[in-house]
Amino acid sequence: MPLFPCSISCPEVPRKCAHDGTTGDPSLYTAGANLLHNRFPRFPSGYPMDCPVPLYLQLAQRLLDAIEQAAMPEGTRLPSVRTLATQHAMSVSTALQALRWLETRGHIEARPRSGYFVAKRPKRGKRANGTGAAKAAGAGRWARPMPELDAQARDHLAITAAPTTVRLDLASAETTLYPVDRFSVLLRRLAYQHRDLVGSHVRGTGYPALRAQIARQAMQYACELDPDEIVVTNGCVEALNLALRAVARPGDVIAVESPTYFVLLQMLRALEMRVHLIPCDPVTGIDLDALKAAFDRGVPIKAVVTVANCNNPLGSVPSDARKRALVALLREHDVPLIEDDIFGDLCFGETRPRPVRAFDDAHGNVLLCGGFSKSLSPGLRLGWIAGGRFTERVKALKYTTSMATAELQQAAVAELLATGGYALHLRRLKAALRVQHKSLRDAVLSYFPDGTEVTDPAGGLVLWTKLPMLDGQPRSTRTLFEQARAEGIGFAPGHLFGEGGAFDDCLRLNAGNRWTSELEAAVRRLGELATRAIPAQGVATRDLQL
Ligand SMILES: Cc1ncc(COP(=O)(O)O)c(C=O)c1O
Repeated sequence: MPLFPCSISCPEVPRKCAHDGTTGDPSLYTAGANLLHNRFPRFPSGYPMDCPVPLYLQLAQRLLDAIEQAAMPEGTRLPSVRTLATQHAMSVSTALQALRWLETRGHIEARPRSGYFVAKRPKRGKRANGTGAAKAAGAGRWARPMPELDAQARDHLAITAAPTTVRLDLASAETTLYPVDRFSVLLRRLAYQHRDLVGSHVRGTGYPALRAQIARQAMQYACELDPDEIVVTNGCVEALNLALRAVARPGDVIAVESPTYFVLLQMLRALEMRVHLIPCDPVTGIDLDALKAAFDRGVPIKAVVTVANCNNPLGSVPSDARKRALVALLREHDVPLIEDDIFGDLCFGETRPRPVRAFDDAHGNVLLCGGFSKSLSPGLRLGWIAGGRFTERVKALKYTTSMATAELQQAAVAELLATGGYALHLRRLKAALRVQHKSLRDAVLSYFPDGTEVTDPAGGLVLWTKLPMLDGQPRSTRTLFEQARAEGIGFAPGHLFGEGGAFDDCLRLNAGNRWTSELEAAVRRLGELATRAIPAQGVATRDLQL
C-alpha cells in the first residue's frame, strides 16, 4: 500500500503526484547548470492545492530530485529558506519544514548561520525509490531508474544528426566500406523478380531464407540456433527492446555493464526499468565477481544484458571460460541473459568468438540479439533475435510493436549470406578496420595529453579513451565536446555511457573512417583541445557502484 496517493511512490517521498503525473519541471534537472538559481528555478505553476500530499513533502521531493538529477556534490549550498518560500509561493515555515524533513533523513545538513548544504551521499541501498512493483520486489533498495537525459546529453546525442565534418562520434564504418553498389543491384533485381516482396503484405517473424542463413552462420562458430526461434527486427535496437520486454516489467532491475551502450541505458529508462551497474573490464568483460556479489547481496536482478563480443565502448571479449561461468551463474539464479552480439562478426581474431549463447547448452536462457547495421549495412536497419525459451513472448511483442520487418532487404541480405558475398566483404572490412584502429590509436597516444589511456580493442568500431587528471581534478569531455563540435569534430562524450557523471573524463572515438591526413589533423586538434580541457564544475565524476 503506497504511503501517498501518488501513482509512483517511494518509501520516503512521493516520486510522482497523481495530480500532474510528473516529477516536477524537467528544467530542474539541467545538469551542468552551475548557478544555483538554475538548479532551483522557480516552479512555473506551483503546486496543486487539492493534492493530499502535504506541501512541504512536495517541495522536499522536488529539492531531492534536483539534488540527485544534477548530481550536486556534497557541500553545495541550497537557497535560503526565505528564497525557497518566495520561489515556491509558500510560507517560510512550510519551506523550513521541507528542509528539516530532508535534514533528518540525511540528504542535507544545516550549518550554523550559513544555511543548508547538500550532505554526503547516503550509502546506496539506504534510500529507495520505486514503483509499487519494484518496491515489492525490494528493487528500490538496489537500483535506480535511469535519469532523464539532461539538455546537454540530448545535444550530444543530437550530434548524430548534425552536419559534423569529422565523424568520430558514431560507431559505424564509412559508407565506402559497405557493399552499397552490390546492394543496389540486388535490391533492384529482387524487387523486379519477386514482386510480392514489395507488393504483398508482410507476415510472419522474418523472411525464412534469412532466418535460415542466420542459423547457418551461427553454426560456423558452434552456436546452435533454431531458425524458428529467430525473429527478424528493425535493427538490433528493436531486438534488445523486445528482449527486455519479454523478460522484465517496469520497475524490474536489469544488470548492465558499466560503461555500456548509451541507447541501452535510455531504453531502460523509457521502459521504466531500473539499472544495476556491473563494472566491465576492457579485456575480460563483465566483472563476474561483482555480479555474483550482487546476487549474494540479494539484488533482485531480473535479467542481465551483456555486449560480450567486442563490447561497445570497451572492445573487450571475455574468454570462453568466463562466458561459460556467466551462463552457469545465471542459470544458478534462474536469471535470463540478453546478449547483444552485433559486433561479434567484427572481432579481429583468427576465429570468430562464440557468443555466450553458445555455452547455454539447449537451456534457452540466453536471448541472443544481433544485426547487420555494423557489419553489412547501417541503412537497411536489419537486426534479429533468437529468443530461446522466451521465443513465443518475443514473437507476440514483435507483432504488437512493429508487426513485421520489410522483406525486400531481408531477401537481399539472405542472398549475400548464401552466396559467400558476406564472408568476403567481412574479410575486407575487418582488414580495413584493423589498420584504421591502429592509426587512430597511435594518433591519440601521440597527440593527446600525457597520461591519456586508450583501449586496445579486440575488434569492432570504437576506441575508448580516458583523459588524465588536470591539477588533481578529472577533465570533463563535456566542455571538450562543445569546443570540438564548434570546429566540426564530433565524438561521443563519456558521460552518455554511464550515469550521474560517471565517465565524464572519457570519450569514445569511431575507428570506422578511412585514415586520411584530414582525419589525423582532426585528432591532433582534438588532442590540443583535450590538453586544455578543464573539469566540469558541478558535475561529479563518481563511481556508481553500490
Ligand atoms: C552494442 C550495440 N547494440 C546495438 C546497436 C544498434 O544496432 P542497430 O543500428 O542495428 O539498431 C549499437 C549501435 O551502435 C550498438 O553499439
